[in-house]
Amino acid sequence: MILKALSFATLAVLFSLIFIGGYVSASGVGLSCPDWPLCPQGLIPHEDFIIEYIHRSVAATTGLLVIATAVFAIKSKDAPRAMKVASLIATAAVIGQIVLGAVVIVERLHAVLVTAHLGLGLVLFSMVLMTVAFAFRMPATKAIMVKD
Ligand code: HEM
Repeated sequence: MILKALSFATLAVLFSLIFIGGYVSASGVGLSCPDWPLCPQGLIPHEDFIIEYIHRSVAATTGLLVIATAVFAIKSKDAPRAMKVASLIATAAVIGQIVLGAVVIVERLHAVLVTAHLGLGLVLFSMVLMTVAFAFRMPATKAIMVKD
């Protein structure tokens, strides 16, 4: 049950993050927060870089959710091997994506890096989607039968 809820929540947050990333790119505010990992005012958001601030905050949340899903999948006795593999690839992809996001900033939005950022985001989405699909195919935990 927890794997279904957690993996689905991860997918939903990741889906929103991809939308926000598209908006960051299309509206040209990618360098509104030129520092990394924090914006110029630290953890305090400011209207000058609010979209990029939200993109980074939701990315951090997504990272934690992807890692938490992988931990539960690995520990689950019912989870199939393919689900564990998909969640581990998702973990590698989310870490790579966060590092790549930093490189995109440092390299001032180099076109190849921004394209790689989009591509790795799609790999991440596919792996999380597979994890959700496996989670919803898992049998419900059997109720414990107590004998009289
Ligand atoms: C799980 C983590 C992340 C995902 C899934 C993600 C996804 C995306 C997507 C889909 C785009 C749109 C790309 C395009 O339209 O070509 C984007 C843009 C962007 N992302 Fe991320 N992102 C993540 C983390 C980060 C982080 C941590 C940073 C910075 C520290 C970052 C910085 C950027 C920037 C600056 C852009 C705009 C690039 C431009 O102006 O063309 N991203 N992101």
